[in-house]
Amino acid sequence: MTPRSSRPHLIVALDVDTLAEVEALLGRIGPEVLWFKVGKQLFTRHGPAAVRLLKDHGRKVFLDLKFHDIPNTVAQAVRSAAAIGADLTNVHAGGGPAMLRAAAAAARESGVLLTAVTVLTSMDRAELAAVGLDVEPAGQVLRLACLARDCGVPGVVCSPLEIGIIREACGPDFVLVVPGIRPAGAGQDDQKRIMTPAQAAAAGASFVVVGRPITAAADPAAAARAVLAELA
Ligand code: C5P
Repeated sequence: MTPRSSRPHLIVALDVDTLAEVEALLGRIGPEVLWFKVGKQLFTRHGPAAVRLLKDHGRKVFLDLKFHDIPNTVAQAVRSAAAIGADLTNVHAGGGPAMLRAAAAAARESGVLLTAVTVLTSMDRAELAAVGLDVEPAGQVLRLACLARDCGVPGVVCSPLEIGIIREACGPDFVLVVPGIRPAGAGQDDQKRIMTPAQAAAAGASFVVVGRPITAAADPAAAARAVLAELA
């Protein structure tokens, strides 16, 4: 496995409905967490105001909207993500090489870090077959990660169990954003293929995404500190 020298950044997933909940969580988690994820749930209700709120608090934002459209539309969406203040955003690698190249160019020009989603972790072999892909999920993940890299996309979103093979194939500088993280002793919720923060760091994650183990904790600041300690 290719080693990485720096430890992963923690991104806290804000899967909530209201800006008031975001403000409350920021207050409870405290200043130690720099990165937060705004996804479809929060963005569909509140749009750029959700990103602005975090930026006004000096935080960095992963805008997780997984764009998947024709090249021009995705490139313009990536520019829009940068324009509203996103520091990291993503597209579906399944959109193909022309789309990935257009998105990568837009991200470079507008100064936002771009990653690609390979195969949704909710899809198994039968789900892939149902959409006409008679392949093993792991092989498809690797294929799309390498395609993204070859098209100039600097990283991917992947499950903890995929870190090793992608790091091996794509090298130490490829950005790996990894959800499905559960601190030792935490419940699994609906996550199945999980690793602890320490395991994900050892495997080579660049960012780990943690939601409910922090946001639903009795003491979110203590939960976040525990994850940060594991990452160090
Ligand atoms: O609460 P939890 O830690 O499970 O949240 C993880 C976050 O990462 C959620 O926002 C979820 O949608 C996202 N995610 C995931 N698995 C993926 C891709 C994204 O859990 N494969």
